[in-house]
Amino acid sequence: MKTETSIQGLSASLQTARAARKVIGFVATMGNLHEGHINLVREARRLCDVVVVSIFVNPTQFGPNEDFDNYPRTLEQDSHLLAEAECDILFAPSVEQMYGSRPRLTNIRVEKITEDLCGLQRPGHFDGVALVVTKLLNIVQPTYAFFGEKDYQQLAVIRQFVQDLSIPVDIIGVPITRAADGLALSSRNGYLSEEQRNTAPIIYQLLQQAKAKLLQGVALDVVLNDVKQGLDQAGFVVDYVEARATNLLHVETFEQDVVLFVAAKLGNTRLIDNLMVKYSKSIG
Ligand code: PAJ
Repeated sequence: MKTETSIQGLSASLQTARAARKVIGFVATMGNLHEGHINLVREARRLCDVVVVSIFVNPTQFGPNEDFDNYPRTLEQDSHLLAEAECDILFAPSVEQMYGSRPRLTNIRVEKITEDLCGLQRPGHFDGVALVVTKLLNIVQPTYAFFGEKDYQQLAVIRQFVQDLSIPVDIIGVPITRAADGLALSSRNGYLSEEQRNTAPIIYQLLQQAKAKLLQGVALDVVLNDVKQGLDQAGFVVDYVEARATNLLHVETFEQDVVLFVAAKLGNTRLIDNLMVKYSKSIG
């Protein structure tokens, strides 16, 4: 595996692959890699000739009170994991390399679907994601780019601006990787105390119970309220429990496929999860 820290170096490394019309796959990450990330790399490895993974903790997507400075940076360990997963090129630029020293005057803002769910608690977050992902896609120019369904709203935002800006890439969504007890893998799980880590899988248990209730015909608002109460009782501070259509539009009732979304805090650690429930006409 090659490591590149500059845009020029990466372009030079990709030149032969591009000239030979190789299929380039790209996975964007902020590092501190776990099985969830590695699964994206495996999917890229399966579908592409050349696999590029970026590790960049992107300052523009963190709010002033968020964990940018403390975000875990574990480049050496990540590098081993990527080599094992047969990544071809690790792109690990500095903030200076990505954003330069001249002031930036361009923003990329996806409307509507960013003003909901995580966008409400994290103003500007998706602008930062849209900006850095656009820059990375321009730098790498992959055929396919892989993103996790764990960050379902992020994936929807990326699909939207890729379409709106005619960026020539296919975006592939990859299902959530979970720990054996159901907790969605996340770099932020490392912040949890042992006790909190034991409580955290309740999120997925409640989502699964919610799915079962919906499929039995229990009303959507009742089901969502049960999840909220379950989280409260387990000691979470609930940010939101919501249902949306798969395109993130609002839904009142379960009469189409829905995605159930949870964001909740255990101590200072904010956890998110989601679960899709498919609608079949025979219900009810
Ligand atoms: P990061 O949180 O490092 O996640 C990188 C990619 O891994 C994202 O596409 C995310 O959805 C995916 N991922 C993380 N945990 C996962 C899990 N348990 N199952 C499946 N996929 C998982 O998301 C970001 O970084 C940043 O916002 C980024 C897109 C890199 C832009 O800075």
